[in-house]
Amino acid sequence: MLERLESLRTDALQRVAAATNVDALRALEKEFLGKEGVISEVLAAIPTLPAEERRDTGRGANELKAALLEAIGVRKSELDEALVAALRDSGGFDPTLPPAAPERGGLHPVTQVRREVEAIFASMGYEVLDGPEVELDYYNFQALNVPFDHPSRELQDTFYCDDKHTVVMRTQTSPVQIRAMERLSPPFRVIAPGRVFRNEEQDATHEHTFHQVEGLVVGEDVQVGHLTWTLRRLLNELFGRELEVRLRPGYFPFVEPGFEFDVRCPFCEEGCRVCSNSTWIEFCGCGMVQPCVLEAGFEGRDDVDVGSLTGFAFGFGLDRLVMMRFGIDDIRNLMGGDLRFLEQFPC
Ligand code: PHE
Repeated sequence: MLERLESLRTDALQRVAAATNVDALRALEKEFLGKEGVISEVLAAIPTLPAEERRDTGRGANELKAALLEAIGVRKSELDEALVAALRDSGGFDPTLPPAAPERGGLHPVTQVRREVEAIFASMGYEVLDGPEVELDYYNFQALNVPFDHPSRELQDTFYCDDKHTVVMRTQTSPVQIRAMERLSPPFRVIAPGRVFRNEEQDATHEHTFHQVEGLVVGEDVQVGHLTWTLRRLLNELFGRELEVRLRPGYFPFVEPGFEFDVRCPFCEEGCRVCSNSTWIEFCGCGMVQPCVLEAGFEGRDDVDVGSLTGFAFGFGLDRLVMMRFGIDDIRNLMGGDLRFLEQFPC
């Protein structure tokens, strides 16, 4: 067997050195080192050999394996180098060409519009805040003056995280209002964009996971006029022109007075799919912050004179803005994770 190994070695090394291309090398590798290759055969035969030959045969086979692997590697680099040299000499090779561009990911359309909104508010002196998506009932409801029997607490709307209902998936970004008041000293202006969750039937305009942008301004002498100016400014920036707006009374437990803020449909004059043929689009809920919400938010703060403060708050859906911006007609596309959809909105 040892002589067999010796002749295998001579034969294999000669043929590797003589190989003229990578395919030939691959074939040799398979022939000698493959699962059913010659060396495997030798190793498999060891138990049938006389006892005194077994050790040397095993060692010899393994040495041959290592020597062959190395020889194949060396020959492969030689062949690769020769290939590049040939290409270079043939004149069709331009070493100054940039490499193929790596495939790059892009920003999700919701991220694109969120950043646009953040930039607009930053230009008005707003700070951008974040808040937890898994939230205490206290912040999501109680501190926002949502009584225990309010319909938004019903199980069909809220994903509760525990049996006692003290932890919820936040149903709105409004809890960040309270968190902002706890942390900041008035006067301040903040927005808080983020994901919110509702236990809803899904259809083209409803998702269990969607996005809102909350706004909160607190200071002395903050008035409704500041609120409407701010929202108009936002819409002007987003749509590039002055759009008609209107305020209607609206009920949200944490604002008083509360409003629905509508904007004239930027896409039509007589009614279209986007505005459900009404020429108006419900843009957001808003209003003046309830005094009891200010009390809750600034509770225990010696540095804050709550009685001297007023504020406004608003909250709008980011997904609809994204859908309007990109002409998307089904909200389920946004969180669906289908790359064929997402790749249509490169940035
Ligand atoms: N959080 C409210 C909602 O989800 C919107 C809102 C925010 C209303 C702030 C008034 C003030 O519907």
